Amino acid sequence: MNAGLLGVGKYVPSHILTNQDLENRMDTSDEWIRTMTGIEERRIADEETDTSHMAHDAAVEAIKDAGIKPEEIGLIIVATVTPDRPFPSVSSMLQYQLGAVNAAAMDVSAACAGFMYGIVTAKQFVESGTYDYVLVVGVEKLSKITDWEDRNTAVLFGDGAGATVVGKVSEGRGILSFELGADGSGGKHLYQDDKLKMNGREVFKFAVRQMGQTALNVIEKAGLAKEDVDYLIPHQANIRIMEASRERLGLPVEKMSKTIHKYGNTSSASIPISLVDDLADGKIKDDDIVVFVGFGGGLVWGGLCMRWGK
Ligand code: COA
Repeated sequence: MNAGLLGVGKYVPSHILTNQDLENRMDTSDEWIRTMTGIEERRIADEETDTSHMAHDAAVEAIKDAGIKPEEIGLIIVATVTPDRPFPSVSSMLQYQLGAVNAAAMDVSAACAGFMYGIVTAKQFVESGTYDYVLVVGVEKLSKITDWEDRNTAVLFGDGAGATVVGKVSEGRGILSFELGADGSGGKHLYQDDKLKMNGREVFKFAVRQMGQTALNVIEKAGLAKEDVDYLIPHQANIRIMEASRERLGLPVEKMSKTIHKYGNTSSASIPISLVDDLADGKIKDDDIVVFVGFGGGLVWGGLCMRWGK
């Protein structure tokens, strides 16, 4: 028996910040941002909307989609590097707001790979028989740690939340394999020191190398070949990094998720937000082989291969 995804949900703020808006605020251009990153616009949360609010709205949708009650959840995992405050954890706030009275709660800090770490952790608890349902949320309010004076990073990020309920699925479906990894020696290339700091070149090189390799590793661990893959959902950090992974798997353009133009890089929320949009657009069908792969500050990475469906 494998664990799989029983329901999904997302929340994105209504306020849209376009590349043109950024042109008016700093020395950049719509053309540079599009060509270098693939981003056209991103969502920015207002003052009153903090990380826990976005997490809550995405979670409510995922719980409804899974057809379960909050009191059936055994564990809530929130992947975020932008919690409302260091503690209490966003997951504890969520536990109370949702009325998930039987749930334990913990936050996971693995930057843009946080959702992958969350799902893989949830899988262990479900497959060991410890919990029937684990709620996993990837959520970030990156706008509050963005240095709006630094054009190298300010154009890249957006706010949002994506959620899923992990539970048992039917024989043959669900998460077939995964890989998690870390290389702390690269921590200096992407970190928060009051505001977010990044060495874009170094992160780019690491991401191109690691994303493709992790995708290939999880396919092999699942006993499958590249040709078996129906759909790839890469972390939405930069269209050129995403394209490099897609090409390494030999997939056509339409078999890779692309939401970066609408939302920018929403860190741990990017994979689940993309999943929600792709399901709504009918891009993923039951029994499709789907590969998720993410990377981020740490440096860390994570991927998994699953056969879609309950
Ligand atoms: N608008 C216009 N020009 C910009 C700019 C912006 N927003 N940001 C940088 N530039 C300029 C630089 O000043 C530089 O100009 P110069 O040649 O006159 O010195 C030029 O563009 C190239 O800058 P560089 O930083 O070397 O570009 P790059 O090819 O590394 O691309 C990124 C920059 C950020 C798009 C790319 O490095 C990247 O995507 N890295 C990975 C980032 C990432 O994914 N982070 C999140 C990880 S989860």
